[in-house]
Amino acid sequence: MDARLQQRVQRYGWDRAASYYEQSWSRQLAPAQNLLMTMAELQPSERVLDIACGTGLVTFRAAEAVGAGGEVVGTDISEAMVEACRATATARGIANAHFERMEAEKLLLPDASFDVVLCALGMMYVTDFAGSIREIFRVTKPGGRAVSAVWGKRDRCGWSEIFSIVERRVQSDVCPMFFQLGTGDMQATLFASAGFTDVTSERITTILEYENGEEACVAAFAGGPVAMAYSRFDDATRESAHAEYLESIAPYKRGDGYAIPGEFVVTRGRRA
Ligand SMILES: C[S@@+](CC[C@H](N)C(=O)[O-])C[C@H]1O[C@@H](n2cnc3c(N)ncnc32)[C@H](O)[C@@H]1O
Repeated sequence: MDARLQQRVQRYGWDRAASYYEQSWSRQLAPAQNLLMTMAELQPSERVLDIACGTGLVTFRAAEAVGAGGEVVGTDISEAMVEACRATATARGIANAHFERMEAEKLLLPDASFDVVLCALGMMYVTDFAGSIREIFRVTKPGGRAVSAVWGKRDRCGWSEIFSIVERRVQSDVCPMFFQLGTGDMQATLFASAGFTDVTSERITTILEYENGEEACVAAFAGGPVAMAYSRFDDATRESAHAEYLESIAPYKRGDGYAIPGEFVVTRGRRA
């Protein structure tokens, strides 16, 4: 898929997913976000960039960790996500977090301007992995660090059929490279190629729990990366796609609900 088109699909798809996102994913992504926060070792007064910040689940934790003397900038390709973050910051009276709509591939930010750069579950969606990690390196201060969490290997993510189920109904690729960064040492290798040193990765397994099939379908179709294509499905197409997805996760059925295995890879590097 052409890069500009992929960015548009992501941008407007996540605009649609924004209102479902936290109910669908905050519990499921917490293990990866917790590990990312631990590996980031944020200190009071640090200046932090959170790329692909979504609704700010990590950004607001980072803002609390750096305190009033620090600052966090959250960026995301989706205007609806950025607006959601601004609304939360206003509602909670958080003054040290600011948000801008921005593509990870081209950060409109000065060189060497952040102590720490974070990206939680965002890198899988960018159109240029190596270029985006080089952008992370460029904006990290010498002595600073960067941490990125991505989904792991495809065959360890029990929900992975969602992509091919949607692709067959739109006759085009949906996130074709989604599982690449989480396979082998790919993310760590790209960190090292971008110039980071002391690069380490941790791989953790997780279980995605859903109360019932409807909750699992809302998360997979409406609240995530296929939301753009899904928004254009008619009722019959939605019904058949839901049925196929539920069949693909049937091995993980527990009573009325589901316990689907997943894997995350979290990588950290330091800019010397
Ligand atoms: C799974 S959400 C993760 C949100 C948040 N970091 C979290 O941990 O909850 C992925 C986010 O990546 C954003 N995204 C997708 N492609 C992007 C790109 N090329 N540049 C910046 N953000 C992008 C989406 O808009 C979405 O908000």
